[in-house]
Amino acid sequence: MKNIAILGSTGSIGRSTLDVVDLLSNRFNVIGLAAGRNSELLARQIKQFKPEIVSLEKESDADFLKAQDFSDSVRILCGQEGTEEIARNKDIDIIVAAITGISGLRSTITAVKYGKKVALANKESMVVAGPLIQKLAEESGSQIIPVDSEHSGVFQCLAKEDKKNVKRVILTASGGPFFQSTKEEMKNSTIEDALNHPRWEMGEKVTIDSATMMNKGLELIEARWLFDLQPEQLDVLIHPQSIVHALVEMRDGSVIAQLSQTDMKIPIQYALTYPEREEAPLPPLDLSKIRALEFYEVDKEKFPMILLAREALNEGDSAPVALNAANEVAVKAFLEKKIVFSDIFFVINTIMRDHKKNHVDNLDDILSVDRETKLQTRNFLEQRL
Ligand SMILES: NC(=O)c1ccc[n+]([C@@H]2O[C@H](COP(=O)([O-])OP(=O)(O)OC[C@H]3O[C@@H](n4cnc5c(N)ncnc54)[C@H](OP(=O)(O)O)[C@@H]3O)[C@@H](O)[C@H]2O)c1
Repeated sequence: MKNIAILGSTGSIGRSTLDVVDLLSNRFNVIGLAAGRNSELLARQIKQFKPEIVSLEKESDADFLKAQDFSDSVRILCGQEGTEEIARNKDIDIIVAAITGISGLRSTITAVKYGKKVALANKESMVVAGPLIQKLAEESGSQIIPVDSEHSGVFQCLAKEDKKNVKRVILTASGGPFFQSTKEEMKNSTIEDALNHPRWEMGEKVTIDSATMMNKGLELIEARWLFDLQPEQLDVLIHPQSIVHALVEMRDGSVIAQLSQTDMKIPIQYALTYPEREEAPLPPLDLSKIRALEFYEVDKEKFPMILLAREALNEGDSAPVALNAANEVAVKAFLEKKIVFSDIFFVINTIMRDHKKNHVDNLDDILSVDRETKLQTRNFLEQRL
């Protein structure tokens, strides 16, 4: 029996993780849950899974929980401190890092420092702090198992391979809602258009990142650090069916691929049970029904975000931190209807042209670049609006 905590339990990944854990209740015991503002859903999760410790972002939401009838069996915490206390709790074996954005960084780092097995969904942590997290994991013995479907695919393809034989790693992308649209059609597309992902049901931020293809750019940077690969070994192919999640090309010409149904429960379950496997929580993949698996090059004129992300990947140091920060502010502004879809690229590109790269090797440096870039991006948006 493993004790588990889910940070971001009220989100898309968090809820899928609880579905997986519910089916595998003979293997996993939920000890901790952390969420942002959705206190009502967290209250229902507490009733169902009976964790010992929970946390919410704001004190007022934690007070709402304290007023509920949970007996005294659950400790209710709040804020960054609360999430981090769960991440380092000595009784917890596995931390599912599923908070969205850089808000998940501190708790991911804490879990890694304390030697936990980390099922990592929060890709932004690896994007902004990849070298630091890898160094901390080496020191503490923490095992980081990717939850992102593409990275779970790469992880599985590489499982029995000698890394020196790997030539190229290809992450697939569905192409998002605008795969078939022209640049002109994309320009003024609405929030509803951009959130209408053809394959995956995800939180709003990652869905917009998928529409701009920044998501794939962030995933390239994530893969760089998760698998210790060089930027030129990483590539992307559009694969609209989202059945093949990753391809690994070996130097003898073999290409190893990982395929599965388009459902995050599969990589989540793999991350939790690794190195073992359990029965799938879904019907088997039937390729005779899917019939065709297509692959296309990314149209970089239509999706220039992928070039921006690649520049940040090549530059390293503070560039990925600035990219992520500008993206978080621009996506929020789009979701608040302050800018149109094509502005997201324009804003991030402007900020990245101005960014003076500097060395970041600790958490304070990273958070300082994040703060400064966000301020700069907000100021730029204010001047333009
Ligand atoms: N969804 C997917 O299929 C998918 C696939 C691969 C990778 N990922 C990655 O997984 C992460 C989560 O994605 P998602 O789609 O699950 O996002 P989501 O649905 O928006 O959920 C985000 C979760 O984080 C919580 N949260 C936000 N800010 C917080 C804070 N300051 N403190 C504590 N909790 C906070 C939210 O709480 P409230 O809702 O209570 O406010 C929610 O539980 C992202 O990094 C994403 O890129 C997602």
